[in-house]
Amino acid sequence: MAPAAPDTRSLPPGPTGPRVLTVSRFLLQPTRFVGECRERYGRLFTIRLSPGRTVVVAADAAVAKEVFTGDPALLHAGEGNVVLRPLLGPRSVLLLDGPEHLRQRRLMLPPFHGERMRGYGERMRAIADRHVAQWPVGEPFAVQRSMQAITLEVILRVVFGVEEPARVAQLSAPLRRLLDSTEQPWRLLALQLTRSEGARPRTPWGRVRRLLAPVDAMIYEEIAARRAELESGRPTRDDILTLLLSARDEDDQPLTDAELRDELMTLLLAGHETTATALTWTLERITRHPEVLARLEAEVGGEGADAYLDAVIKETLRLRPVVPAVVRKLQAPLTFGGWDLPAGVNIAPNIWLIHRDPALYPEPEAFRPERFLDRTPGTYEWLPFGGGIRRCLGASFALYEMRMVLSTILERTRLAPTTDAPEQVTRRFVTFSPASGGRVTITQRLTPAAAGSAAPQPRVPA
Ligand code: HEM
Repeated sequence: MAPAAPDTRSLPPGPTGPRVLTVSRFLLQPTRFVGECRERYGRLFTIRLSPGRTVVVAADAAVAKEVFTGDPALLHAGEGNVVLRPLLGPRSVLLLDGPEHLRQRRLMLPPFHGERMRGYGERMRAIADRHVAQWPVGEPFAVQRSMQAITLEVILRVVFGVEEPARVAQLSAPLRRLLDSTEQPWRLLALQLTRSEGARPRTPWGRVRRLLAPVDAMIYEEIAARRAELESGRPTRDDILTLLLSARDEDDQPLTDAELRDELMTLLLAGHETTATALTWTLERITRHPEVLARLEAEVGGEGADAYLDAVIKETLRLRPVVPAVVRKLQAPLTFGGWDLPAGVNIAPNIWLIHRDPALYPEPEAFRPERFLDRTPGTYEWLPFGGGIRRCLGASFALYEMRMVLSTILERTRLAPTTDAPEQVTRRFVTFSPASGGRVTITQRLTPAAAGSAAPQPRVPA
């Protein structure tokens, strides 16, 4: 018997028109739609997406705090990601809830500790340097593809520990095909729907199985190689996979190969597109704010430059949070923001709207990195990485990578400011992405020594 639908009659107000209209606006005009709902209905409003999916949206930092500090046993996040299961596998930390989630998360956390990231800086810079060297000079291009290539290579080298360039290339191609094939939400939905048809080659699921097979084989090869090195007693690597191989849970049990495979796919999927999009947004924002760009260019490489760059990254993630909301499904009746909500509904702290709350950020739409130089935002006021027991595992990794890649770009190129309108926000899977892929122009290349100097440098041929 199907579980009883929650009684949603006494939920916070929200749009009441035809459901198909709500769903299309939610998908196609995501920022305008939630902005209008906030105006009309207030800080808590209800969106009915389908009979089984009612979402109470919270545009309120205090409610976000209630959600993130609430009992994880009663607030499930994994269930909502079930659509990713064909790709990630059943043991992915993103899909689990309760004690199983906690076990995986505890095993995975130590390698992502903030301090550890420093050791990866040079590798991240070298990767960025190589890709930036291929950018055209003097003609506009969409930078997002290049950012995706950079962040994919960073994951392969730093997380998977692949070092040989030929192997990186060999792994990248099938991975790219797989990731591209699942970019659109409807494709993932089609996957779910056709899964029962097994491996019939012409179904979407059959197609993904074909793309997934060589990727899985290569991931298992990398696990075996790293394990062999570890067991040889002479491990020389500091990649995250090697550290995960040594991790032990409370019962002194390691992650199995199947668990490692699912977690590596998870890190790849959760960490590559998100960081590439955040980097693209940062360039989109700074090229539209010449004073910010000029300060970054003048300071790069100098003492204290990191503080301003970090503020720019924070301000970009405030105004263009790549993941605009997070969702928890209630396993029992709970109260949020004074509303008694029934089991079965979803509560969703809306990062996009909380980051635009004028009570937290005066003149919220203004791009002003200085606001983060003066003060550290509260835990529930700046939350591009979500919060609580599900907060992004890779937050330090992503912020450090962004700093490394952006400072490499600023050291190696001059970016042209633009008076073009801001790029529209478009939904790509669960992320908010720049509609034109972050079009930028670089006017010249710089030698490393020239960085930090505002004086024009001789042009080096592309
Ligand atoms: C700018 C880049 C990134 C953004 C904006 C971002 C954002 C997020 C958000 C919003 C969540 C959900 C948090 C919640 O439900 O409260 C999440 C979860 C996660 N992220 Fe990230 N992420 C980024 C980069 C990364 C990177 C680089 C990695 C790893 C290499 C990563 C790995 C994960 C994992 C494993 C989870 C699941 C955590 C759990 O369920 O316990 N992310 N991320």
